[in-house]
Amino acid sequence: MTWSPPVETDVKFLKKLLGCAAFATAALTLASADAATTMPPKSKEDAAIGKICLDCHQKESPGLFSEWKKSSHAPKDVDCYGCHKGKEGDKGVVQHEKDKAGKPLFISVIVSPKTCAQCHEKEVAQQQRSHHAKGGQILASLDNIMGEVIGGPAAVNAGCRQCHGGTVMIDKASGEATPETWPDTGIGRVNPDGSLGSCSACHARHRFSSAQARTPDTCGKCHLGPDHPQLEIYNESKHGILYRANVNEMNLQSKKWVAGVDYSAAPTCATCHMSATRTQGITHDVGERISWTLRPPISTKLNMVRLANGDEFDQPEGTPLPKIGDTVKGSKVTQILTWEDRRKNMTNVCFACHGSNVISGHYKQFDDVVNLYNDKFAKPIAASMKELQDKGYITAAPFDEKIEWTWWEIWHHEGRRARHGAAMSGPDYTWWHGIYEVAQHTYFKWIPEMREMVRKKDGNEKFADELLAKYFKPIEGHDWYFNGISKDAIEKVRKGFEERYGKGALK
Ligand code: HEC
Ligand code: HEC
Ligand code: HEC
Ligand code: HEC
Ligand code: HEC
Ligand code: HEC
Ligand code: HEC
Ligand code: HEC
Repeated sequence: MTWSPPVETDVKFLKKLLGCAAFATAALTLASADAATTMPPKSKEDAAIGKICLDCHQKESPGLFSEWKKSSHAPKDVDCYGCHKGKEGDKGVVQHEKDKAGKPLFISVIVSPKTCAQCHEKEVAQQQRSHHAKGGQILASLDNIMGEVIGGPAAVNAGCRQCHGGTVMIDKASGEATPETWPDTGIGRVNPDGSLGSCSACHARHRFSSAQARTPDTCGKCHLGPDHPQLEIYNESKHGILYRANVNEMNLQSKKWVAGVDYSAAPTCATCHMSATRTQGITHDVGERISWTLRPPISTKLNMVRLANGDEFDQPEGTPLPKIGDTVKGSKVTQILTWEDRRKNMTNVCFACHGSNVISGHYKQFDDVVNLYNDKFAKPIAASMKELQDKGYITAAPFDEKIEWTWWEIWHHEGRRARHGAAMSGPDYTWWHGIYEVAQHTYFKWIPEMREMVRKKDGNEKFADELLAKYFKPIEGHDWYFNGISKDAIEKVRKGFEERYGKGALK
């Protein structure tokens, strides 16, 4: 396995993140070697302090010590002080114990990606620009109103933020993180040093293992439940079944873990979204291999634009793409991954185990479900909701009308489940938990609620009919709703029934 050196973008970004020119230069020299990990030199003083920490903690916290001892850090002398060293006066740094001469020691309990970047710059650069790092920035969302206002802040702290990450606040008097905001190993935690995310969201402390991060349950801490059931979908898929049946053959402890070479039984979440293939390196930018966004009310395909300052953003298909060298969002465009490029990155993984027809057939079935959801259900409802708001039937505020909850559940829960199910081979989520519920709730909740709302407001039921005629009727798939199920369709079913169960079987 060969490693590609960090691209120019990563390097500039890390100089900014680390903020220390001298160190950045040293690390960069090392980085040009063909290695993923770089080690800044350790001073004698730091080595001595590290030993003090270890000696006491071996006795005081044997469980923690034992996990560290089993990690790949211990044999390389990456000790407690190597990660927890703090500079007096820095945010989140507290005095903790003394050295042999009685001089106070300063540590940071929080160990942010900035600390890991001293040795793992490539991983951190990829992670910092990804959606994962930005997962804590959920203030400007409908979900957040749902959490903060309709639920309550206590549920946001112990709920949303344990997955998304929140802003870690430091108590001025004690210098320690406040108990409302800590502990938190959410994926996009905002750290006191300004860096984003938490590496132990996937690499649990103090083992910091790749093997553990490769298991589906690692991702399943967050990627599960009614609105993004990736873990359940995976468990239902052939891939999940074969993973569990053959977990002993998965070679999870292997140093390099190349799909089809180091293991072949099944892919895990990491295999498809992060791990290496024969021709692709590991990525900590989990967006690199996906072509759609399946999260919003209406899905779009996304191109990815990378900038010289180390950041990146998604640009929906159909909107004008900048060119390499253009200045956007205050920085120069260095790379563009079209949605097709991103899809190629993913199919490159599949080719370790499949031929092209299974892969292209899978994507055809997946795209068709997303388009069905978008075109038949999401677009007409979204357009109607807008018109209801424009005409004053519903207020601009979210969630103060029942119909807004109905639409929310259609796209945020049921519609996502259908899309995610089709993306990752979970037929029950595509249909029973997915399109089945989307359809039922469109026809037998959303439409009746819309009618009733219009009737209650001004009795103008003609307006409700007009909305349906304008947005739903032209779509062929809704024909049965307006004109009844066709004689042909019923006849076909009757024949099928009679072939199987005998004459007169369909009542
Ligand atoms: C003489 C023993 C001793 C020494 C030396 C020592 N520690 Fe500790 N440390 C402890 C004990 C005991 C605790 C748990 C105390 C508590 O949280 O109430 C602790 C807690 C911690 C915590 C968690 C603090 C928190 O607020 O949650 C960290 C991190 C830590 N030590 C790191 C270090 C590092 C790094 C060093 C070396 C610079 C070190 N320790 C040296 C005994 C020691
Ligand atoms: C590779 C970096 C690394 C090393 C080495 C390391 N830690 Fe940590 N430690 C972390 C991270 C990351 C956390 C979690 C805090 C966070 O999420 O920012 C943590 C948390 C802790 C905590 C608080 C956790 C708890 O559950 O109470 C203690 C105590 C601690 N470390 C002590 C130590 C001691 C003692 C050693 C040496 C045996 C050590 N650490 C070595 C990275 C490290
Ligand atoms: C169990 C962990 C978990 C909890 C709890 C959780 N989320 Fe999420 N959330 C996720 C995951 C995982 C995704 C990404 C889903 C996907 O890509 O399919 C997500 C997606 C989102 C998005 C969409 C982000 C985007 O870029 O489109 C928002 C906004 C959001 N969540 C806000 C919240 C809020 C606010 C709360 C609490 C009221 C909350 N979430 C609770 C795990 C969680
Ligand atoms: C979303 C989960 C996730 C997060 C968050 C995450 N990692 Fe990883 N990491 C993985 C997986 C999975 C692997 C194993 C890849 C493979 O199969 O070899 C890995 C592997 C690694 C490796 C070993 C790479 C190699 O070349 O063998 C390092 C180092 C690493 N991660 C550092 C980090 C650092 C530093 C952070 C925080 C900035 C971080 N990771 C955050 C999932 C994660
Ligand atoms: C002082 C340097 C240094 C720091 C700081 C550091 N690491 Fe490491 N890390 C290493 C070295 C060295 C290895 C072993 C590399 C090898 O064996 O090839 C390693 C290995 C790893 C691996 C791969 C483990 C495996 O199972 O293969 C992960 C994951 C990892 N580190 C995560 C982290 C995280 C997360 C942080 C910050 C919380 C961190 N490291 C901080 C030096 C460091
Ligand atoms: C066989 C490969 C494969 C496996 C295994 C897999 N995924 Fe996926 N995943 C995909 C594909 C393909 C897509 C859709 C890609 C696209 O948009 O082009 C996807 C999409 C996603 C998305 C984006 C959803 C959105 O809302 O936009 C998330 C999040 C995700 N997967 C998480 C996971 C998690 C967590 C697991 C494990 C529990 C997992 N995946 C297992 C292939 C896989
Ligand atoms: C601690 C919670 C957490 C864990 C663990 C986690 N994720 Fe995520 N993931 C999220 C959240 C939250 C988002 C949505 C972030 C956003 O867009 O704001 C997300 C988004 C994603 C996306 C969509 C990226 C994009 O560019 O749109 C993929 C793919 C993904 N995760 C895969 C994984 C995989 C694979 C793992 C395990 C190796 C994993 N995640 C582990 C919380 C988590
Ligand atoms: C590590 C090997 C491996 C990787 C990588 C992998 N798969 Fe699979 N996949 C399998 C195995 C094994 C099966 C089970 C075949 C069976 O049912 O007999 C399977 C089954 C499937 C099926 C069901 C096929 C059927 O005949 O029912 C689909 C669809 C599929 N994979 C798509 C994908 C896609 C798309 C990717 C890439 C995003 C992918 N797979 C990546 C090993 C893999």
